[in-house]
Amino acid sequence: MAKDIDWANLGFGYIKTDKRYISHWKDGEWDKGTLTEDNVLHISEGSTALHYGQQCFEGLKAYRAKDGSINLFRPDQNAQRMQRSCERLLMPTIPTEKFIEACRQVVSANEEFVPPYGTGGTLYLRPFVIGVGDNVGVHAAPEYIFSIFCTPVGAYFKGGLQPANFIVSDYDRAAPKGTGAAKVGGNYASSLLPGKEAQKRNFADAIYLDPATHTKIEEVGAANFFAITKDNRFITPFSPSILPSITKYSLLYLAEHRLGLEVEEGDVYIDQLNDYKEAGACGTAAVITPIGGIQNGDDFHVFHSETEVGPVTRQLYDELCGIQFGDKEAPEDWIVKVK
Ligand SMILES: Cc1ncc(COP(=O)(O)O)c(C=O)c1O
Repeated sequence: MAKDIDWANLGFGYIKTDKRYISHWKDGEWDKGTLTEDNVLHISEGSTALHYGQQCFEGLKAYRAKDGSINLFRPDQNAQRMQRSCERLLMPTIPTEKFIEACRQVVSANEEFVPPYGTGGTLYLRPFVIGVGDNVGVHAAPEYIFSIFCTPVGAYFKGGLQPANFIVSDYDRAAPKGTGAAKVGGNYASSLLPGKEAQKRNFADAIYLDPATHTKIEEVGAANFFAITKDNRFITPFSPSILPSITKYSLLYLAEHRLGLEVEEGDVYIDQLNDYKEAGACGTAAVITPIGGIQNGDDFHVFHSETEVGPVTRQLYDELCGIQFGDKEAPEDWIVKVK
């Protein structure tokens, strides 16, 4: 029985669901983990997650297919990225099987919160690892919690597949050899002010340039950037301080193997936007958000249109969402069925 939720008008907000998964690490190992109704954590005031940002997280979605079954999209990739984030912050890693099994348990236990097919809604899963336990010095924590909660969501940027405008930030999101490639909270805490400043000026979010030279696009808020060149190549920035987006790598594959485009991970210079006929932001939450225009200082550059979606962007969107919702054949191992 589906919950009494206005599925078609979901935003990207927290709705408390019935169950969440929680597992504890102590004395060198993770326990089996359990589902709980309690959505409040009780942790030591000395937890390293609270003081030193020793924590990381993930984001993935469960999609309701036309036949009522439920798909997870490439959860092994989220598991692997979380392992890399944990290693970067000296936290114990979660084995891939444990991660996927926990995702399945959370989705199954909250099945009534998976939005019906055709509403555009999905069930967003938020896995996280935090350092906990009594501590005060700058050390790795003595204990850890791995948990996954979920919440039904709609579009992240208002309007869904509607172009949005972005503004280049004066702030850096990450340092050249810092933690930009890890999905750690500190990267997001420092993005709150630039994000707010962008929104105050009526932009959807901030665009971050490469922190070493400030000449190349790196990230679009909490999403990766891609563009289509005037000669029809798919390009997305390559840099060690970008979060390696699972959506972005999926689009690289689909652009090449389904759309027949040449693809490239390379440099996208902020002063050469004229080379591109379309641009977009991509990520689990953003899905594909077409970029209408980019404000860079006094210059406002419009790509395809501020109101219309470009044809290649639309094709990529249809291909990606078709696979996620089970309407199009998925490349091997991209879809994990929950039921
Ligand atoms: C900073 C940042 N970049 C890119 C992405 C997109 O990554 P993915 O496609 O794996 O969701 C996210 C969201 O996870 C993000 O937070």
